[in-house]
Amino acid sequence: MFISMKSVSAIVAGICLGAVAFQATAQDDIPRLRKAAEGLFLIGNALPTRAFSDVIASDIAAQDFNRLTCENEMKWDATEPQEGQFRFEAGDQLVEFAQKHGMKVHGHTFLWHSQTPNWVFQDPNGGRASRELVLKRLENHIRALMTHWKGKIDSWDVCNECYEDDGRVRAPGGFGGNWRQAIGDDYMEQAFKIADKVAKEIGDEKVLLVYNDFNMYKPGKRDAVVKMVNDFKAKGIRIDAIGMQAHWQSNDDPSIETIEAAFKAYASTGCKIIISEMDINTRNGFRNSGRGLERDDSVQGNADSSADALAKRYADVFDLFVKYHKDIYAVTLWGIGDSWSWLRGGQPLVFDNNLDPKPCYYSVLKSLQKGQAALKK
Ligand code: XIL
Repeated sequence: MFISMKSVSAIVAGICLGAVAFQATAQDDIPRLRKAAEGLFLIGNALPTRAFSDVIASDIAAQDFNRLTCENEMKWDATEPQEGQFRFEAGDQLVEFAQKHGMKVHGHTFLWHSQTPNWVFQDPNGGRASRELVLKRLENHIRALMTHWKGKIDSWDVCNECYEDDGRVRAPGGFGGNWRQAIGDDYMEQAFKIADKVAKEIGDEKVLLVYNDFNMYKPGKRDAVVKMVNDFKAKGIRIDAIGMQAHWQSNDDPSIETIEAAFKAYASTGCKIIISEMDINTRNGFRNSGRGLERDDSVQGNADSSADALAKRYADVFDLFVKYHKDIYAVTLWGIGDSWSWLRGGQPLVFDNNLDPKPCYYSVLKSLQKGQAALKK
């Protein structure tokens, strides 16, 4: 049986050493996701540094998860707000926490159209920076981050969200096309080459290089990413894993068959699969647009807020993850509890607003336990 997080909260509030005491006892007698996922895949969460001021949230992070992604703290605007002026303190705090609790760290992210300062794309006179200058800045940025966290990061998102759902690369001049506009059509290739070169240079070659995107189950995007990976491999460009963000809906959208087809396609490239930012929206008529939850009439009925529906949905998708555990490297949930989620009102996570486990927490636990038991047979 799970100790209610509210009661833990009361204990922790009353006793200064409460968190330590809870950790010492909880580990042994309460089944937790981290333990249940052993032998299957890593199980992660995304944390902001403010999680450290919430003793329950940080306790859940350490007890239930063995992989940590910084929700925002390693993005370009956080790490290099001005050219050449790097800020690592927030990321360092999260890395330190992960190391203390035996969690692997996923680095997120080098190249993304969002949360990247404008100066990256501007020349000193305020005009458009040349391809050479932007490539130099990208290399400088990647080198600084990889060097600073050398040996402490398990995998890096090298490129994030570069494709449209239909498989076109985001257009220069269009939304999300800033990197392509600045560097040219080979911008992803250049980013992966730089990351691999720097990894070799600094002797950190074990670090996994990842392409990450949302709606990765959509056939257009799926096939384009598979083609990109195969092209990279044919050219000798290293790419180790494919991240499927998994901002999904609670009522079978995408369907299990569609997700499974994507797993087969990605596994065929020889890359590992990472479920990288999982949350399951329960707000009807809304879906994640890539920019948070937005109204979308085409998904009416694809989400509902019943706890049972969400529990079933989490069970279905985790049963599938277990089935494909040999291809799946890690599954990461995007946030600890619902009130922490970027999908406001979506109630998409396995802990509720009070950080109590929801029925879907137990369905995930059960899927993992079943999967683990099957491994032992
Ligand atoms: C989100 C964070 O959760 C928010 O706190 C932030 O305001 C915006 O970014 N795809 C990604 C993540 O790759 O970095 C995004 O995270 C969610 C969508």
